[in-house]
Amino acid sequence: MRLRSVELEMPQADAAVKFLTESWGLLDAGKRGATSFLRGTGDHGYILSATEAATPGITSVTFSGSKEEVEGVAARAKASNVVHRPMRMFDEPGKSHGFLLQGLEGQIYRFITETEPVARLPDDRNRPIQLTHSVFNTLDREACVSLAEKVFGFRISDRTAAMSFVRCNQQHHALAYVKSDASSLNHLAFEMKDLEAVMLGIGRMRDSKVPLVWGPGRHGPGNNVFGYFVPPFGGVIEYTSEINLVDDNYPVGSPTDWKWPPGRTDHWGVSMPNHPSGEIAERQYLFRTMA
Ligand SMILES: [Fe+2]
Repeated sequence: MRLRSVELEMPQADAAVKFLTESWGLLDAGKRGATSFLRGTGDHGYILSATEAATPGITSVTFSGSKEEVEGVAARAKASNVVHRPMRMFDEPGKSHGFLLQGLEGQIYRFITETEPVARLPDDRNRPIQLTHSVFNTLDREACVSLAEKVFGFRISDRTAAMSFVRCNQQHHALAYVKSDASSLNHLAFEMKDLEAVMLGIGRMRDSKVPLVWGPGRHGPGNNVFGYFVPPFGGVIEYTSEINLVDDNYPVGSPTDWKWPPGRTDHWGVSMPNHPSGEIAERQYLFRTMA
């Protein structure tokens, strides 16, 4: 299974698309009605959609797998009485077949098989490859982890005092849940080719007058390098690279395994603390529950 895309709604979606293509580095993947689709250089038809709406919201996070993997999640959702919808086709770049289910705090997860996969494009250090993780603020993170393990078939990788990291393949995490007093999209991370590409991105954001709210740095769990930003359309987005790959023998870390020395917030000790504007933005994109 792989994290494929996230589906967002926001006011002034055209301005968001302009920023995401001209500054962030995504590529136009077409438009259907009020929805614009954007892709990276990886082999997904799109990785982010932006739909015009009155307020910011996240309508779904989408995972792509084989027909058998998706049918397995659907069977477990049914057996667990999780709110879900029947299998259907989705008319979107890369075409897909799958279904939606609703998480415990209104998160909508889509599980699909891409039926018309697209070819990978040449690497470009100025463009994201694909999404690498999606992080949610949660009221009960362990209940969310339990759903991901039991119904999605995902595995817990690490727990820190604030976060639980979950993987859907060998990549250390594709989903993470933050202990919070709100349910919202915490941030989205875009995979870059390497550390050089992350640093080039940080410079490009400075050129675009988009504030770096955390980074550059290297995380503990996952060991990935990072730079976090609040883009003009709100929310928090991240350039990242070099995430660890783990196998079934990976020991699940606990909060005592992941403590920084006083004054540090990253492995290198170079990053400033998370800027308060980031914490506000982490609460802007709320889940659109199923009607
Ligand atoms: Fe992240």
